[in-house]
Amino acid sequence: MSQTLVENIDRGSIEKLVRSFYAKVLEDNVLAPFFINALGDDMRNDKWYEHLITLDNFWLGMMLEEGKYMGDPLLPHVFLAGLTPEIFDQWLKVFRETLEEIYTPSNVRKFHGKAKALSTRFIKDLELDDDDDYE
Ligand code: HEM
Repeated sequence: MSQTLVENIDRGSIEKLVRSFYAKVLEDNVLAPFFINALGDDMRNDKWYEHLITLDNFWLGMMLEEGKYMGDPLLPHVFLAGLTPEIFDQWLKVFRETLEEIYTPSNVRKFHGKAKALSTRFIKDLELDDDDDYE
């Protein structure tokens, strides 16, 4: 059960993170429906394959400034009906649980900080936040 926590973030550990995270997502009652709807319920299918590679590259870019992610991470979320700030909180919770199984605490903080910042931006850009200020 106990395994060495990863100190140096590299491609191998990011690939493990991405796959472990989405395996948990598919077990999560709140999050699973969004992904099953977009990609199906079998992580071995072609759509999931593409998604996992995209997310490997996305996190390689975020953490190591390498990888080939050139997309706009906000875009697919614009079309997801029913997103709320609480669903983003759940996403972050499952992401943190996965991080804690793989990485040292300081790496957990680095990944989680980036995910949290992006999640806050998504909530704002998707206008899901409650604050009714106009900008
Ligand atoms: C409320 C929580 C979230 C849900 C339900 C969700 C769901 C999804 C879905 C269904 C897709 C599209 C898959 C496809 O059709 O190919 C997607 C793509 C993606 N998501 Fe999320 N997501 C959430 C939060 C986040 C957060 C917080 C991040 C970043 C930290 C993130 C990063 C991405 C990226 C990078 C992509 C791929 C974008 C691309 O294709 O270029 N998501 N997400």
